[in-house]
Amino acid sequence: ETFSATQYNTSDATSFAHTSARSRWPIIITQAIDDVHRSLHDTKDEATINEGKQIVADLAKLKYELQHDRELTPIPDDGERDVAAYNQELAERGPPKWHSVPWLYAECYLYRRISSSFKQTQHWRSYDVFARQKTATFKSSRPAVIELAARYRDIVTELEQKKTVKGAKTQEQLEAAENVLFTEMCEICLWGNATDLSLLTNLSYTDIQKLQGSEARKNSEKNILVNDLDRAFKVITAAQREGKKERRVDIVLDNAGFELFVDLILAGYLLASGLATNVVFHPKSIPWFVSDVLPADFGALLSALADPQSFYSALSDDEKHAGKESVPLSETENANLLFLFRNWSTMHAEGQLLLRPNDFWTAGGSYWRLPNTNPELYEDLKESELVIFKGDLNYRKLTADVSVKFQWRISAAWPATTPFTDAIGPLGPGSGLRVLALRTCKADVVVGLPEGEDEKVRATEGGGGDSGARKWAWSGKWAVVQFSDGKA
Ligand code: F6P
Ligand code: MG
Repeated sequence: ETFSATQYNTSDATSFAHTSARSRWPIIITQAIDDVHRSLHDTKDEATINEGKQIVADLAKLKYELQHDRELTPIPDDGERDVAAYNQELAERGPPKWHSVPWLYAECYLYRRISSSFKQTQHWRSYDVFARQKTATFKSSRPAVIELAARYRDIVTELEQKKTVKGAKTQEQLEAAENVLFTEMCEICLWGNATDLSLLTNLSYTDIQKLQGSEARKNSEKNILVNDLDRAFKVITAAQREGKKERRVDIVLDNAGFELFVDLILAGYLLASGLATNVVFHPKSIPWFVSDVLPADFGALLSALADPQSFYSALSDDEKHAGKESVPLSETENANLLFLFRNWSTMHAEGQLLLRPNDFWTAGGSYWRLPNTNPELYEDLKESELVIFKGDLNYRKLTADVSVKFQWRISAAWPATTPFTDAIGPLGPGSGLRVLALRTCKADVVVGLPEGEDEKVRATEGGGGDSGARKWAWSGKWAVVQFSDGKA
């Protein structure tokens, strides 16, 4: 069989790339334009207004080029060092046109291009064009936030007591209990990803709330098609048993708001239980895929929790318009949220919880490039007991978003049965990295499934059937949890 590996492409009508480029991205750019307009409304300073107008014009031009299938143009020099790599790759690739370009590169380019419009100004350089949306969605996840805050407080309080009542249970019983909790925390963390904002162009707020509660989580367990959590648990408990002094877990973050909230739940649990001694968070450096975490989002989340009553009672203009009235938190709810604030800010202040940005996470290529392009980051990640990659885009980058193009067919995916360890290439066996992907599926690429599973899910309602499209993998309803131990 002769085939050459290629990536999902916006020209492929059966891929989510196709509708992404034609319907989702124009909406995202329009929302960005609206956001700048709004901010302009509240601005008096003339220089800021002029720059804002220029940004709007830039974004409108970008939308035009996208919708009219023009060539992708070089990213203007905005003073950042990653521009050269983006533009070099652009030149090597053609330059391509919007409707027939590898999906992964084009979507990264899109966000990098948007950010360059801001970076070229003086007053908008660090403006986050998606911040409003992030805050609004986090607010709308209030029921789930409150439910989890209570659960977290119980768990952490119990863990603290357990430390003082030693010998109540055997080591084995303790570990079994720990495994159950670890699984619960990881699954909370996993499903928190189902609700990112770049998909919000097709999901309503009510849909989102449905995806977040504990009921939803229980029902969703059957939707985790592969679940390697036990293997990840073994790795970190082994480190603990060996008496390793520093046991670090890394989380390559995905979305802000509710997802970051659940990442903190997991991180806090790992630290409180002693499964880890340090947790390192890896945020993005520019506004990315609408809802991804920037360092400022971390601060914003903690500030919201520092005074939850004000956070929830302050109404946005939209809410006022819709005639909404704020419902105050109960005393217990308020106290539980404050507990989270104290707990997490202490961990942060004591250096157990770190934020470590790197522009590798917003480069245009897959993570297969890590050892070559960012050897320092690679070495750093090797120090970790476990590197958790959150969400869909991270998974696409781990697997290089590869589709295998057979000569006699238009295109077919990485066979869904490809072992995860193969699909992550240089980050797989021999890499020295322990990789755990927590991914709800929102794009075509899926690997590591048992024989026949893809076909089975395709045959379910909305699964794509005989259309040639793997539609089931687009909506965040299904998930995979996959592990690679990095040993040769
Ligand atoms: O599938 C839609 C999409 O926007 C993809 O383009 C992207 O990979 C993903 O969702 C972003 O989701 P996440 O926030 O989980 O990475
Ligand atoms: Mg995201």
